[in-house]
Amino acid sequence: MNVLGIETSCDETSVGIIADGKLKANLIASQDFHTKYGGVVPELSSRAHLQIITPLLKDALKRAELDINDIDVICATAGPGLIGALLVGLTFAKGLAYSLDKSFVAVNHIEGHIFSGFLMEEKPEFPYLCLVVSGGHTLLLLVEDELKIRKLGTTVDDAAGEAFDKVAKMIGLGYPGGPKIQQYAEKGDENAIKFPVSRLENPYDFSFSGLKTAVLRHLQKEYGIELNIPDSELPDLTASFQKAVSKSLLNKIELACKEYNVSCISMVGGVAANEYIKNRLLALGNKLKKKVIIPKLEFCGDNAAMIAYRGSILCKNNILHDYNVSAFPSLRGDEFILSE
Ligand code: KG4
Ligand code: ZN
Repeated sequence: MNVLGIETSCDETSVGIIADGKLKANLIASQDFHTKYGGVVPELSSRAHLQIITPLLKDALKRAELDINDIDVICATAGPGLIGALLVGLTFAKGLAYSLDKSFVAVNHIEGHIFSGFLMEEKPEFPYLCLVVSGGHTLLLLVEDELKIRKLGTTVDDAAGEAFDKVAKMIGLGYPGGPKIQQYAEKGDENAIKFPVSRLENPYDFSFSGLKTAVLRHLQKEYGIELNIPDSELPDLTASFQKAVSKSLLNKIELACKEYNVSCISMVGGVAANEYIKNRLLALGNKLKKKVIIPKLEFCGDNAAMIAYRGSILCKNNILHDYNVSAFPSLRGDEFILSE
């Protein structure tokens, strides 16, 4: 079975091809021009997806040494994401499937991330704990099998990636903030400033807005309302912030490991690219004797390989969609599996 995946939920246009279970192409075109606006501009994102999607598909087919007629199943992200951006990939995929008379699968972007660990050589084993940490979501999940995902906790305000981006903006590092904060933090002392780690009613929920405010208060107190922060202060500040985010994520995982009988922990999404958090999770896995699966960089951020993979699993379970599926901007309640 040859599966084509298309991802356009935010600022990455991506086309992936999995042929007979092997990843043959995962092309990602990042829209770097948003940097100068300090965040993703939805309208510009949709236009850029439109411009690049056809040439990207052609390149991916070439890379996979396949013809479009060799593709059996076409999958596309239906949401959550920016509505205009989603519509580009979803409509493109539907049109392609309709005109070529191929099967079509609409994929939930978060499900794509959740199962991205399976793109690695060493794969997660069910049931496992999955921490989704992206720009829009922070979720702790119990993944029981291919079709059963239980939500244990979510963020009550900002997502982890959003916290990185907001703090980076506050200290003048620009967008996206995650990689820049990580870079500065490498040279800093993580114990220099004590930032709070939130406690919530549901012990598996997350909150990052208090941390963001604590960073702002600290900066205003030290450097005045205009935040004239000397460059030399950035390493300690970013390292202390990164430690607080990591602590709040890992505390929940440790707690869940006590309650749920799992042998494996997976961390996925853009923030899973963070070397510090990655190392802390690996150390925790070691301590708790749990296998830790973190996708490689290419599969942490938005990519179509994960969409093709998730689509192929749904297809294997006879879950196909008709052309009535529409794009959806946010998660619908507790629902993950688009198919149920
Ligand atoms: O999963 P993703 O590519 O897109 C969404 O679905 O949201 O995640 C993007 C997020 C951004 O907030 C970005 O700042 C964050 O992932 N990110 C990082 C790192 N690389 C990307 N956060 C912390 N450390 C990183 N190295
Ligand atoms: Zn994502």
